[in-house]
Amino acid sequence: MQENVDNTKKSGITRRFFMGWGLAIVIGMASLAFFLLTVLRMPFPFLLPGKSGRFKIGTMADLPPGRTKYFEDDQVYVFSDQDGIFAISAVCTHLGCIVSKDDNGFVCPCHGSRYNLEGKLEKGPAPKDLPWYSVSRLPNGQLIVDKKKSVKPGVKFI
Ligand code: FES
Repeated sequence: MQENVDNTKKSGITRRFFMGWGLAIVIGMASLAFFLLTVLRMPFPFLLPGKSGRFKIGTMADLPPGRTKYFEDDQVYVFSDQDGIFAISAVCTHLGCIVSKDDNGFVCPCHGSRYNLEGKLEKGPAPKDLPWYSVSRLPNGQLIVDKKKSVKPGVKFI
């Protein structure tokens, strides 16, 4: 009976010893694996390059005066009137919600900012007007909006 108690006590110390070292080894291996994965991942960008900012909107024939088109993927409204074609951002200048167009201009559904039909800010909290983007034509007649080129409000492609 006495021997049996001693064996349990002896094996308990051994088990505790190996449990402690085993846990340390597992944590060490996990840390090393995490470190190696982080180092191996470094040459690759976390963010993929964005789009060029340029997109096709059709030809002049596709945009007769009085036409409005919304390009959802690029979040831009394109308008055509008697003076030409122009593009206005649909991204609210407050926190980036997408504005919707109504008869009087644009309204932001998030916090109620309002812009007139030319994107000029009428009511905050948005801090500034909606930007206008450059519209140009390729040699094949295709019209292009370039979101990386802002133009002054009122500048239209003729
Ligand atoms: S995001 Fe448009 S008003 Fe706040």
